Amino acid sequence: MKREFSMDRRAYLKSVGAVGVAGLVSGCQGSETTTEPAEDAETDTGAGATTDAGAGMTTEGAAGTIVPGTAPGFPPFEYRTDEGELVGFDVDLVAEVVGRTDYQLGEWVDMDFGALIGSLNNGEIDLIAAGMTINDKRDQQIDFSDPYWEANQAVIVREDGDFQPSAVGDLSGHRVGAQSGTTGEDQVEGLIEDGTLSGSDYRQYDNYTLAVQDLENGNVDAVVIDVPVAENFAANRAVTIAFTIETGERFGLGLREDDDRVSAINDALAEVRDDGTYDELVAEYFE
Ligand code: ARG
Repeated sequence: MKREFSMDRRAYLKSVGAVGVAGLVSGCQGSETTTEPAEDAETDTGAGATTDAGAGMTTEGAAGTIVPGTAPGFPPFEYRTDEGELVGFDVDLVAEVVGRTDYQLGEWVDMDFGALIGSLNNGEIDLIAAGMTINDKRDQQIDFSDPYWEANQAVIVREDGDFQPSAVGDLSGHRVGAQSGTTGEDQVEGLIEDGTLSGSDYRQYDNYTLAVQDLENGNVDAVVIDVPVAENFAANRAVTIAFTIETGERFGLGLREDDDRVSAINDALAEVRDDGTYDELVAEYFE
C-alpha cells in the first residue's frame, strides 16, 4: 500500500512555496522553539553516513528502509477508506518525514494498537505512527520522536441519548468502553480503581471504530477516546462529546531504543513543520 501522494505533495508545495511558519498547529503548541532554517529536503542530515544494521539491507547507496506500523480505526490519524486504503494524518506525516531523510519508507504494517510496541521491539516494524501518547511506561520500552500533537481525552455518548454525563462521577453504573492498551483505557482503569466504575461495566475493544459502533447500537453507554478522534467521530457518526478529561497528552513516533535514526526523524519532523507541510496536513485532515 505504497502512496505516491507524498512526492506529489512535496512537488506541489515546492511549486507554490512554503506557507510560512504560521506558528505551530493548534494541536501542538508546546516545547517547539526550533529556529533552525528549513534546509532543502534533499541535502539533509547526513543520516546516510550510518548504515542500517538490518539483515540483508546492504544495497549500495541505500541507507536502509524504515517499515512503519500503525493501528487503523483512529480517524483522522489512521483509518481505512471504503476501498480499504490506509490513509490519515499519521500516514502522510510519516511519508513526509521519512521522505526528508536518507531512508526509504517500507510498506505499512497494521495491527491492533496493543501489539505495536512488541512488534517494534521484535523488529517486525521500525516505526510506530499511531497517535501514540508519550508516557513513562512506554518510554521505558521504546524511544519517541519529538511530540507532533497534543490531546486530552473525551467521553463520548449517543447523540440522541438520555445519558448525557458532565463529569466522570456521572459514569457510575453505566457501561464504559475504550480501546485496549490505550491511555483512554488507563482512564477507565483509574475509575475502576477509585470505585467510580465497577470492573464489570468496562467494555474493552480492539479498536475505536468497533467501540463507536457499539455506542451507536446501545451496547455501551460511553467511550473514552482522544479528543481529536472524538471530534472526528462526532462529525461523522451519531455520537457527541459529553465532556473532556484534561490529560495533556502528546503524541510521538515510536522507534526502538537502540535505533539512532531518531535524530534524523526529529530533524525531518522539524523541516516538515518549518516548511508549512505540517500545516497543510492539518488543514487536510482536521479542518
Ligand atoms: N493516544 C492514545 C494512546 O496512546 C490512543 C492511541 C490509539 N491509536 C490508534 N491508532 N488506535 O494510547
